[in-house]
Amino acid sequence: MWKSVQPAPPDSILGLTEEFKKDQNPQKVNLGVGVYKDEAGNTPVLRCVKAAEKILLNTQTTKSYLPISGDPAYADAVQRLIFGAGSEVISSGRAVTAHAPGGTGALRVGADLIHKFSPDAKVWVSSPTWANHNGIFGAAGAGFEITQYGYYDSESKGLDFDKMISDLEQVSTGDVVVLHACCHNPSGVDLHDEQWKQVAGLAAKKGWIPFLDFAYQGFGDGVDEDRYSVEQFAAAGIDFLVASSFSKNFGLYNERTGAITVVTPDESQAKVVMSHLKTIIRTNYSNPPAHGGMVATLILDTPELHKMWLEELAEMRNRIVNMRKMLVAGLAAQGVEGDFSFIEKQRGMFSFSGWSDDVVSSLRKNNNIYVVGGGRINLAGLTTANIEYVSKAVADAMK
Ligand code: LMR
Repeated sequence: MWKSVQPAPPDSILGLTEEFKKDQNPQKVNLGVGVYKDEAGNTPVLRCVKAAEKILLNTQTTKSYLPISGDPAYADAVQRLIFGAGSEVISSGRAVTAHAPGGTGALRVGADLIHKFSPDAKVWVSSPTWANHNGIFGAAGAGFEITQYGYYDSESKGLDFDKMISDLEQVSTGDVVVLHACCHNPSGVDLHDEQWKQVAGLAAKKGWIPFLDFAYQGFGDGVDEDRYSVEQFAAAGIDFLVASSFSKNFGLYNERTGAITVVTPDESQAKVVMSHLKTIIRTNYSNPPAHGGMVATLILDTPELHKMWLEELAEMRNRIVNMRKMLVAGLAAQGVEGDFSFIEKQRGMFSFSGWSDDVVSSLRKNNNIYVVGGGRINLAGLTTANIEYVSKAVADAMK
């Protein structure tokens, strides 16, 4: 059967990591995949995670299956984190949450759910968006028709809000709009508070379904600040979905710990939605992996561990902000022409560097620096030790 089958192309992000791992050059730098690295270039296990794991090792009594939608305590902890503990969405019971394998798994379960009842809905993604959004929504069911709304302005290196709004005005009732709740991937360009209000108002007016990808909570301004967008959709009283992830903010990348949350008009409809989520999960991966969810729940529900987590998250966030500043200074010190101050204004792990495909391939070929096509860089891949090397390489590549 396989003789006539042609190979599929490598993944534009994870494929780059595979190449990076094979590279023997000790100076190599990975600015590709969105994984946090510390000053030593390592992706550490957070101290709060280690502490929680020690507790679990001593107290865990079974490895039996979790329920299809995961542990209810995990769902409660996720809802408190993404909506805020006092949210009406929680007290009304109008949202349901299922533990999913990572943010990607959450997006896919959500996409499958929508496809089951609304296969002809169009899915709108930002221009540009995380490459896997196209993959996931193209793979759900028979594949959605995917179209783009305006977002990033390559001239100003900021948001083209007018274009975004005029495109979203065209979205039909029942269509799905994928929005990055904070720390837009790949651009690092976010909406400000008033703009989020306007977008939520538009969703309510036009009747389209927001699907929020919330993979970087805590990497923008902080856990509470970063849920501002989610709060606006909750306040609008509309149906929406949230795919959230503990990969980045808990560093639980390989534990595949995420959640799909569906917000409905009332508790009885939420229960109906949960029954369908369970069918989708059961026929896909049956029930979620337990470990990451147990760790996240224990940390979120234990005040000392919760506090420790917020401190570690702030350390990660602040180190990235510092790397943004150092890169802007480093490029200037190497005489790279142009104004790179936009890098400091962007938020989260990523920046759209504005580096052309030629620069990106020169960095790879001549300096063993790995950047995703289109020029997205992960600032967390920079360290005090490699920033001069990277800045000089960019200067050489841009000559
Ligand atoms: C990224 O954008 O680099 C991360 O979200 C990792 C991934 O799965 O692509």
